[in-house]
Amino acid sequence: MSNAPTTTRSAAVSVGNADYRDWGLEFPTDFIFGSATASYQIEGAATEDGRGPSIWDTFSHTPGMVWNGDTGDVADDHYHRLESDLDLMKELGLEAYRFSISWSRIQPTGTGPANTKGLDFYTRLVDGLIARGIKPIATLYHWDLPQALEDKGGWTNRATSYAFAEYARIMGEALGDKVITWTTLNEPWCSAYLGYGSGAHAPGLTDGAKALAAVHHLNLAHGLAVTALKKVVTNDPAFSITLNLHVIRGEGEQAAEAVRQIDGLANRVFLGPLLHGAYPEDVFVDTADVTDWAFILPGDLELIHQPLDLLGVNYYSTTLVRIWDGVSPRANNDGHKDMGGSPWPGADRVEFIAQAGPYTEMGWNIEPAGLEELLVSLHEEFPTLPLMITENGASFVDVVTSETAESGESISVVHDEQRTDYLQRHFTAAHRAMARGVDLRGYQVWSLMDNFEWGYGYSKRFGIVYIDFETQERILKDSAKWYSKVIATRTIQPLG
Ligand code: FCB
Repeated sequence: MSNAPTTTRSAAVSVGNADYRDWGLEFPTDFIFGSATASYQIEGAATEDGRGPSIWDTFSHTPGMVWNGDTGDVADDHYHRLESDLDLMKELGLEAYRFSISWSRIQPTGTGPANTKGLDFYTRLVDGLIARGIKPIATLYHWDLPQALEDKGGWTNRATSYAFAEYARIMGEALGDKVITWTTLNEPWCSAYLGYGSGAHAPGLTDGAKALAAVHHLNLAHGLAVTALKKVVTNDPAFSITLNLHVIRGEGEQAAEAVRQIDGLANRVFLGPLLHGAYPEDVFVDTADVTDWAFILPGDLELIHQPLDLLGVNYYSTTLVRIWDGVSPRANNDGHKDMGGSPWPGADRVEFIAQAGPYTEMGWNIEPAGLEELLVSLHEEFPTLPLMITENGASFVDVVTSETAESGESISVVHDEQRTDYLQRHFTAAHRAMARGVDLRGYQVWSLMDNFEWGYGYSKRFGIVYIDFETQERILKDSAKWYSKVIATRTIQPLG
């Protein structure tokens, strides 16, 4: 294994966001404005039409794992409200919709023949999008592994990567003439490190060696799936993966060392094999006490390193690290729920420091400059690789009030100015990155609607559309109305 280049996303402390509030900036005509969701977070209908259980069903039904004992059993009931939700997307003027496919709806136990009713649902979804002039961007895996595969080791088991490729082939055959972008995995960082390292996500294990095995098997699954898809699709789509790359700032005398370690685990362990065909050697050294990486077999790097047409970028916030002094209590403000385990195997000397505000309701610092830096640094490292923001958005407390419309009718409204402000600043950051030469193809706002926010259940709202979880009523928040105008004018709008 050769040494992959070791660029870091950022080691400089930025001056903040003050000047990122801008409007009037125009996006090119082929820039794709859309919004994103994920299957387990919105669909509900957890036991219907042959769907098998996924690790998120098991995890959310395990006491103590999710806030308030919330589950995705009903979620936004999107499975039953498909047509009206599609109409809503059309009403907003979305040009694309990024959704994910529930593997266990297609193959209830993760292997074996496809469940026709599962295929029907996603065919109706994709046909419904196309009929409304909305481009379908499909993600094959947004964390909901069939439980039957977890029972055999999940992502610590190499066989899961091959099962994933077979599932990809099935979906490619079903939708391979319609989907414009295939995203293999959403944020494998979370699947591996939160699922098997920290225990904050399903399946809830806390074992660093397993987390690193999962990293490799997810990378392998990506490569195998791209190869499988390429054999069956007929419409020349883009092949992609979505990463939550960390924009890392360092503090203290050993700032560069702290940044290097976290950049290795968070970013280079994915970018290296996927885009350079090699794992970063320094990560092997850092994690030598955790695992010997014997799960990497000869030929794996070639299987993983498939040409990509697009890289999906999810961005919310930045990360601040320093080398721990070993005496004071170790800070772990890395933005994730603390469930006992570490999502950073081998990085025991690094601590995650609280960052300056303002913050969203997740406690994540708002830093649009980080998005610009990330996009520019990716463009510098991979100059010919187009990028797409596949998630960006914010959770804030939303309040529904009644107002009288011009027609005299009483209407429900949500004045979510903070979310609109967040989006305006991040669209500005994206625009600035493009002005600096970044080939950015589009922006998918997270999320179309409030939904099951993983370990936080329904306590955190990210939607531009409000969901009343009692009645399933959909209410357009002001941010949705603002975004509609952005799309219609292709121009960043002032706050309302
Ligand atoms: C991302 C996930 C997405 C959502 C947002 C807030 O990490 O991909 O499902 O939870 O965070």
